[in-house]
Amino acid sequence: MEYISLGKSGIKISRIGLGAWQFGGDAWGPYEYSTAKAVIAKAHELGINFIDTAAVYGRGRSEEFVGRAIKELGIRDHVVIATKIPGDWHRYDDVLRAAKRSKERLGIDVIDLLQLHWPACWHNVPICETMRAMEKLVEDGIIRYIGVSNYPLQLLEAARSCLKKNDIVSSQNRYNLIEREVEKELLPYLQREGMVLIAWSPLAKGAVTGKYTPENRPRGDLRENDPLFHPDNLREITTKLVPIVKELSIKYGKTPTQIALNWLVMHNNVVPIPGAKSPEQVVENAGAVGWRLSDEDFRKLESASNSLVITYVTW
Ligand SMILES: NC(=O)c1ccc[n+]([C@@H]2O[C@H](COP(=O)([O-])OP(=O)(O)OC[C@H]3O[C@@H](n4cnc5c(N)ncnc54)[C@H](OP(=O)(O)O)[C@@H]3O)[C@@H](O)[C@H]2O)c1
Repeated sequence: MEYISLGKSGIKISRIGLGAWQFGGDAWGPYEYSTAKAVIAKAHELGINFIDTAAVYGRGRSEEFVGRAIKELGIRDHVVIATKIPGDWHRYDDVLRAAKRSKERLGIDVIDLLQLHWPACWHNVPICETMRAMEKLVEDGIIRYIGVSNYPLQLLEAARSCLKKNDIVSSQNRYNLIEREVEKELLPYLQREGMVLIAWSPLAKGAVTGKYTPENRPRGDLRENDPLFHPDNLREITTKLVPIVKELSIKYGKTPTQIALNWLVMHNNVVPIPGAKSPEQVVENAGAVGWRLSDEDFRKLESASNSLVITYVTW
């Protein structure tokens, strides 16, 4: 495994993390605790030490599974736990209450990284009120570091300017071979400022692997209504991008998943956190590092990606 500093925190996190949304057992379909434990055990065995969960995943179930598993496996000192509080709970008192509840569900002494899951959109909470609460949590030893997620650059800058004693160490955003909006302004900023971009949906929820086609769409989970899996978008992906991913997978003796994750890892400061349904998927995802695509093949993927015409306007 390769490691990278979590921004200026000095904590070392694995270059590939583990997303725990799947553990929620709702959006992604049923998920047993025994599977979650096996997935975390395998991740730990392979050197993956960064686990991302959130209060909203299964309304606390994912946090409970993560906490229970690391306790039973006796690996608390070896893992960095990141969780998130939703944008609906960003008033000062709610941030404090939400963090306390997450910490209780996780059963840990301190939350390593607390992220604001998305901006307070329709709640109109002033950003400095929320950041004041985050600093209070650091001061009280409830959390160690502050992160944001899905914040546009301008709001991230505003959030940083509210902080008196701390800084934001990371930003969690959607980033994969198909959805690359972060490259326009956010990623260059984070790289310049020494912050980590935690890449969510790094496999585009499985779309980059080539296992889904317009005729074989995923069933029984949130992807049934995900615009990316609309037949028109899947047709674009499977005809223009997947063939290149597969070609390189043969050339490098790696799987399509590993090619797609390696492309992300080739960007400085980017840490993908693929979600896993099984220990086998964790093994595959961990194998995405320890080697690199050539610059030429990196660009080949980029140009295939540039040719995609994807739309979220599906009706
Ligand atoms: N901050 C945010 O707003 C936000 C939003 C979304 C996600 N996240 C975080 O990011 C994590 C990852 O994102 P995500 O779960 O949306 O998408 P993802 O990691 O791109 O895709 C996960 C799905 O891909 C498939 N998969 C995983 N490993 C695979 C492998 N080795 N080979 C083939 N298929 C594989 C699995 O589904 P199948 O096997 O069923 O195809 C899995 O459920 C989440 O768990 C969560 O922690 C954060």
